[in-house]
Amino acid sequence: MKFVLATNNPKKLTEMAAILGGLNVEVVSPKDLGIHIEVEETGTTFAENAMLKAKAICEAANLPAIADDSGLCVDALNGGPGVYSARYGGEGLDDKGRYLLLLNSMRGQTTRAAHFACAIACAFPDGKTLTAEGRCDGTIAFAPMGEGGFGYDPVFFLPEYRKTFGQLTAEEKETVSHRGRALREFVQKLETFLKQEPSNTI
Ligand code: IMP
Repeated sequence: MKFVLATNNPKKLTEMAAILGGLNVEVVSPKDLGIHIEVEETGTTFAENAMLKAKAICEAANLPAIADDSGLCVDALNGGPGVYSARYGGEGLDDKGRYLLLLNSMRGQTTRAAHFACAIACAFPDGKTLTAEGRCDGTIAFAPMGEGGFGYDPVFFLPEYRKTFGQLTAEEKETVSHRGRALREFVQKLETFLKQEPSNTI
């Protein structure tokens, strides 16, 4: 059985494929199928945006599609950048530019609590859908640390590990991360779904 992972972010693809690997399903990227569509993230929640992406790629590929939408929610910024995490600071910034801007916005803030949130949506060609969500709580570091991961990883600090996401190994990150948690919940739901309705997907 083949699923399309509705992302072209290679780091996300690796993280998602690692967890889905246990399911005995084949996963491909939109690029592998020659699909190059940019889905506009017009939703106001992670769940809405994940479903928009899953449905668009499912329709284009005529295969079940799994999408994630995720972001960093900072208490002192009223939950921002949230669904705007990838666009924080505007088009001109790269990952480093965005996390430096975040550190700047947090100057003088004593409340540094934050969480990563992830929504997974899966859309099937017959119109059925599955969803799952995960969250990881931490704080915003005072300076970037670590080279691993992507996005805001170097500035997201996990008190229980005394490390940022950027300092964790890929396996450690998968165990605690919002995406790891959401994907594990999703895998369980998908297993149950496929047992109940094996004819739905193929
Ligand atoms: P989207 O889900 O592709 O819309 O992008 C979410 C944005 O949130 C990414 O571009 C990253 O900046 C950030 N983000 C999501 N998950 C992670 C993560 O695991 N580590 C670091 N940053 C993340």
